[in-house]
Amino acid sequence: MNKKITVLKGDGIGPEIVDEALKVLDKIGEKFGHTFDKDFVDIGGASIDKFGVPITDEGLERCKNCDSVLLGAVGGPKWDVIDPAKRPEKALLKVRSELGLFANLRPTKMFAQLKGASPLKETGIKDGLDLMMVRELTGGIYFGEHKTFEQNGEEAASDLMFYSEHEIERIGRVAFETARKRGKKVHSVDKANVLDSSKLWRKVMHRLAEEYSDVEYSDILVDNTAMQLIRNPGQFDVIVTENMFGDILSDEASMLTGSIGMMPSASLSSSTLGMYEPIHGSAPDIAGMNIANPLGTILSVAMMLRYSFDMIEEADAVEKAVDEVLTDGYRTGDIAGKDENVKKVTCSEMGDLVCSKLG
Ligand code: IPM
Ligand code: MG
Repeated sequence: MNKKITVLKGDGIGPEIVDEALKVLDKIGEKFGHTFDKDFVDIGGASIDKFGVPITDEGLERCKNCDSVLLGAVGGPKWDVIDPAKRPEKALLKVRSELGLFANLRPTKMFAQLKGASPLKETGIKDGLDLMMVRELTGGIYFGEHKTFEQNGEEAASDLMFYSEHEIERIGRVAFETARKRGKKVHSVDKANVLDSSKLWRKVMHRLAEEYSDVEYSDILVDNTAMQLIRNPGQFDVIVTENMFGDILSDEASMLTGSIGMMPSASLSSSTLGMYEPIHGSAPDIAGMNIANPLGTILSVAMMLRYSFDMIEEADAVEKAVDEVLTDGYRTGDIAGKDENVKKVTCSEMGDLVCSKLG
C-alpha cells in the first residue's frame, strides 16, 4: 500500500522523537512492502519564526489532503510571551478542529517491565494497568467563546463550556464501541452536580447506555475520578469525558504507568483521517540533547497503522518490538528509575533498537 503522511515535527523535542518514529515507520514499510510518503509542514513556534503564524493556511490544507498526520509537540518558553491568539498551541487546536478530530484515544497502559518506574509502585496496580481514555477533542471549554473584557472598572475574562447533543452522542459511541472490543465497561466522567453541560452529557450517555446494554456503564464525577485513578486504577476500562477533564485526567493517568513519555494518542474523525501524537509536550529543557523518550511517538505510529490504515499486523509488530526492547532492559532516562541493571540509551539508540527488533 502507498500512504501519504503529513508530518508536523513542531518544537522542542518534537523533531528528535518524530525522526525516531519515522525510522520505525520506514522499517515497517520495508518489511511489509508499503511506501509511506512524507510531507513535512511547519507547526508551532517553528512556523511562527518562519511565517509569523503557528500554522499557515497552506500547511493546514496539506494536513487535510493526506491519509494521516503525525505530530511531535508544540510550544516553548520562547513563544510564551506573544499574543495569545498566535501561540503555538493555537495551531494544534486549529488542526484538531479543521480536520474534525473529535475523538481522542489515550491508551494508558503500564508495561510490566516499567513497574519500578511508577511512583505508585505496587499500590493499586498489582494486576497491571490497561485503560483507555476517550477524550472529546473539538468541543467544550476549549472551543466555546473566549473573551476578556472590562467589568465594573476591572478586567474580567470568561470561557464558555458548550456542548450540543450530537457532539456528546458521537464521542459516547466511540467510547461504547471501544469498550465492546476491550473490557466492556464504560465510566462517563462529568460534573453533573454543578454544570448544565454535564447534565446534558449524562442524559445523552444514559440513552446510549441503554442501547449498548452489553456494556457495563457508570457515571462518575470528575473529582472522584481524580481520586479513584490513584486509589484503584484497575477498576477502569474505558473512561469517556469532555475536552478539559480529559486533558487533565490523561496526564494524571499517564503517571500511573511510569512515564508520560510512553503514552501515545490518536485523534480520530468520522473518516479514516487521523492525527497521531504522543500526549507529552515539547520538553524544551531537554530539546536537542538526544535524551528524550521516543516510545510515545513510536507507539503513536502503531496507532496510526491500526486506526487509519487498518494495518493490524504491522501495528502489532511495532508494539511487540517496543515490548521486547523494554524486556531487554533498555531505557531512556525518564523510565530508567533507580534499577542499576537497566541499560540507559539515547533517543536515537532507542529508535534503532526498536527497528532492529523489526528485523
Ligand atoms: C494535550 C495538550 C494540548 C491540550 C495543549 C498543548 C493545547 O496538553 O494534547 O493534551 O490541552 O489539548
Ligand atoms: Mg494535555
